[in-house]
Amino acid sequence: MDVAESSSGKKYLPKISQFFARFGDVDFLICAGDVSPYLDEFESTLEFLRATVKAGHYLVVPGNHDIWIEELIDASVDFPPPLEFASEMQATTEDVFNAASKRKYEKDLPKVTKRVGFHYLPGQPLLVEEFNMGLVGSIGWYDYTFRNEKHDEQFEDPEQMYASKLLPGIGVFNDLFFAKWGMPDKAVVAYLMRQLRHDTEALLMQNGEQRPLHLLGIFHHVPFRQGVVYKNQLWWDFFSAFIGAECFGNFLIEQQFTTVFHGHTHFRLQYSVQKTQVHCHPIGYPSEWENRRNIHGELQRRVKLVTL
Ligand SMILES: [Fe+2]
Repeated sequence: MDVAESSSGKKYLPKISQFFARFGDVDFLICAGDVSPYLDEFESTLEFLRATVKAGHYLVVPGNHDIWIEELIDASVDFPPPLEFASEMQATTEDVFNAASKRKYEKDLPKVTKRVGFHYLPGQPLLVEEFNMGLVGSIGWYDYTFRNEKHDEQFEDPEQMYASKLLPGIGVFNDLFFAKWGMPDKAVVAYLMRQLRHDTEALLMQNGEQRPLHLLGIFHHVPFRQGVVYKNQLWWDFFSAFIGAECFGNFLIEQQFTTVFHGHTHFRLQYSVQKTQVHCHPIGYPSEWENRRNIHGELQRRVKLVTL
């Protein structure tokens, strides 16, 4: 739940942490991203969770909302900005904020995360000898490999269409306005894949000859096509292109990860890919809940204590 985007999100935080507390002491509290694009709010939300939920390890990977540029959101009179200005606004902000999201991902977010006692997984894999467990994490990203190819024939140049993140008359994927990696999406995926490989190698090396019994992958974006929900209608499927990238999943299977957690999609999912168990348990926005007056019931449906 992005506490900034959801107007009432913050007010539910105490109830959410109270609900978590019902589980008693847990070994890991994992946050798979989309907390807030505002750095101070990202920090205070994690700090609140750290103070109210007892866990042996507090882990986080950021989501796409968390690497959004605050100044650009503040500059948007309308949220999201009107479609007709999409291309123009994107073009004018690209140079000014060149690679600002990459800096946020590599420097700012790890810094505030550390300050509140969470472990920031990207670039910092974690070996937990007590459980013979190794954890690596990444925001993940998308390269349009999860688009529904059935719709390709409707576009003259599908790649260019998805790179625009804009479906005229229907909508825009907001990363277009607010995420500034300073490189195309495919280059972002390549950069993150390099980091993922490096982190996994470092973890295995740290573990010596003895491979960890459990390799856990924590992602924000969806690494497996099985985690993408299609409706075979363009207005919906167009945005599936921005859900994840298949190279991440291929790597996780190749490296025999036993368990993977991801976020990004608001669907509750639990599935397996070969021998890898995959979990996605989003709280989602209160506006998506069946009954906002029954928060307890909603959390019971959405929050999951996973035993490994
Ligand atoms: Fe997301």
